[in-house]
Amino acid sequence: MKNYLNIKILFIAVLTSLIQISCDNNVEEETSAEIIECNSEVSFSAQVKPIIDNRCVECHNGNRFPDLRNIQSISASAAQIRSAVVSRRMPQGSSLSSEQIEIIRCWIDGGALNN
Ligand code: HEC
Repeated sequence: MKNYLNIKILFIAVLTSLIQISCDNNVEEETSAEIIECNSEVSFSAQVKPIIDNRCVECHNGNRFPDLRNIQSISASAAQIRSAVVSRRMPQGSSLSSEQIEIIRCWIDGGALNN
């Protein structure tokens, strides 16, 4: 009976720390860039592509996943791009402005249109 109780306590402790870890991760994803609402439609060609061309393609030029040279492969990897940009993992070695992050995030949340 005592052993059973110990296992129960251990189980609850592990569960609690797992919940804590997943909450911490959520906080990291929702940095300041996440707060602003996406109001107007973002244009891929006028707003998103210039940022990606200037800040991403030097490394993501077909030699490394994801290939960011064209709309097809950019929209195919939209979820990964969103997460890498919002968490500021990318661009590696530098950073985008909050406005640039919002442009990319809103374009992806709006359906990653070829517009
Ligand atoms: C200086 C080089 C460099 C630049 C600039 C760069 N990346 Fe990366 N990227 C990498 C490397 C190296 C990896 C693979 C290793 C890793 O994941 O850290 C990677 C991986 C990725 C991945 C897949 C792995 C993940 O973390 O999700 C995505 C998506 C990505 N980059 C998006 C971008 C975007 C979007 C930009 C521009 C805003 C960008 N990268 C700019 C070097 C770069």
